[in-house]
Amino acid sequence: MEIRKVGVIGLGQMGLGIVQCAASAGFETVAVKATPGSTDPIRGKLDKDLGKLVSKGKMDEAAKGQLLGRIKFTAVEGDVKDCDLIVESIVEDLDTKKALFKRLEGMISKDAILTSNTSTLSITALMAGCEKKDRVAGLHFFNPAPVMKLVEVIQAFETAPAVVDTLTGFCKKIGKDPVTVQDSTGFIVNRLLTPYMLSGMRLFEQGTASIPDIDKAMMLGCNHPMGPLALADYIGLDVVIAMSKNIYDADRQVFTSPPHTLTRLVELGYLGRKSGKGFYDYSQNPPVANTSLRK
Ligand code: 3HC
Repeated sequence: MEIRKVGVIGLGQMGLGIVQCAASAGFETVAVKATPGSTDPIRGKLDKDLGKLVSKGKMDEAAKGQLLGRIKFTAVEGDVKDCDLIVESIVEDLDTKKALFKRLEGMISKDAILTSNTSTLSITALMAGCEKKDRVAGLHFFNPAPVMKLVEVIQAFETAPAVVDTLTGFCKKIGKDPVTVQDSTGFIVNRLLTPYMLSGMRLFEQGTASIPDIDKAMMLGCNHPMGPLALADYIGLDVVIAMSKNIYDADRQVFTSPPHTLTRLVELGYLGRKSGKGFYDYSQNPPVANTSLRK
């Protein structure tokens, strides 16, 4: 089937990035805010992000206006009813996602594709709650979505091969280089990346090195753009702990369980960059290591 109109539900960091990807490739896009409140600040954030591209000369004002013009910001879920592809990027909670898919099935066309941008939840479990299972798949983007080239297209047992083909084609149309992955907790990237970030946290807890030195080592020693602790802060520690718990639930390996420091930071609401504090303190420029953390 041809995808003409895309619906994205959940406009956090990832959802809004996916909206930008679809609209910049020319797709009419419905951007649905999943939590209460006005969509104005979200549109304002995208406007600001695109403004940075304009000031760098990577986009002109006219293209920015056209891109924004292709997006309908809304808080009404039913506005996705005539979309051909829906990507959910709401809270990482299986029951909430299942309930959303159930509601969506009652409004969308029989051919519309339903996908989840989940980091580590089971696409099969999401599919299980759906009437028409063959149109359900995973479409996993990476943060920042407009910049990162990869999308994982997740195929669960009942996903139709034609749906996988359509999604792969869609990824290419939005300038991504997709891989197809069978449904398995964490898919490829998060299955490898999560234990890596958690191991960085454990190195810190063991007193092996300081937070900045652990990050510096991986940046300068392996050419990573960010070290594991800065990356965890960038992704969001609430997201990282959910990734850890879901992978641990699946494999029961001690090294995938949440480290003590991660658990305490999340309990405190220190979720990384988005909350101003995590492994680093972002009130300083450049950010400095969070001095209240004990080894
Ligand atoms: N739209 C378009 N372009 C954007 C953009 C946006 N919203 N935000 C940034 N960019 C562009 C910038 O214009 C810049 O382009 P240029 O180099 O041509 O000028 C480029 O991206 C880099 O941006 P910055 O100069 O602002 O910042 P940095 O050079 O420090 O790079 C970074 C920032 C891209 C985040 C880099 O540090 C990086 O790649 N970090 C690793 C990110 C990563 O590993 N992500 C995956 C996380 S795992 C995940 O997401 C899975 C999930 O399930 C949790």
